[in-house]
Amino acid sequence: MALFNKKKNSPIALPEKLPQHVGFIMDGNGRWAKKRGLPRSFGHREGAKNFKKIVRYCKDIGLQNISFYAFSTENWQRPKDEVDTIMELFREYIVDVRNFLSENTRMIFLGDKSVFDDDLREKMIRLEEDTAHYTEMTLLMAVNYGGRDEIAHAARILAQKAKDGEIDPKDITEESVADCLYTKGVPDVDLVIRPSGELRLSNYLIWQCAYAEYYFTDVLWPDFSPEDLNKALIDYDGRSRRFGGV
Ligand code: FPP
Repeated sequence: MALFNKKKNSPIALPEKLPQHVGFIMDGNGRWAKKRGLPRSFGHREGAKNFKKIVRYCKDIGLQNISFYAFSTENWQRPKDEVDTIMELFREYIVDVRNFLSENTRMIFLGDKSVFDDDLREKMIRLEEDTAHYTEMTLLMAVNYGGRDEIAHAARILAQKAKDGEIDPKDITEESVADCLYTKGVPDVDLVIRPSGELRLSNYLIWQCAYAEYYFTDVLWPDFSPEDLNKALIDYDGRSRRFGGV
């Protein structure tokens, strides 16, 4: 039977053992805006505000690794004004993140940052460097991220090492591949949460989600609340995880 922890900063008792890594797919911003007769960019703005609220709550309850799908390699195909809004939000939140995250949170950006404007890329790299030594929580933001792209990137690194004679291809293991992923050193995803009623992974951390549990809800991301997260954590606690065993 699950043990529940009443000490954590939550209105309800949460399972004693929380997932080591929760991945959030922030879906439904566009529909949230459409329902209100507003442009899609308003939905992203609300989505970004909610990101901040959920990150704070995750920290309060003691989650250690949380990742958010903020922009995929495919999202560049969206209308220019929508992409511009999301880039503007990245700029705002990267500056703000130091204010709303209390100390001791490490920040990592997952994805190929080389495509971003110089100022934005530099801000991302600076934030990663400045927070690299923090240990209480790791916040990962997937930006220009695609799971297949990440695996192809890892394959290129390993192929180059083999070409340079640094490794023998027959010695390549799951661990050596994992060490070439953007999530190097971060535990695999235990729980993926996708709001908005869509039942798919959409190329998110496909290697790291190999044994993840999934939680889907119809709530749209801007409305996804700490109470919804509590429900997901309690649901996760009731799952039987066997990792291929019995
Ligand atoms: C998916 O909803 C959401 C995105 C592609 C972008 C997510 C970006 C943000 C929340 C803003 C930037 C984030 C931060 C933290 C600064 P959708 O637009 O596909 O929604 P829909 O399926 O209802 O159209």
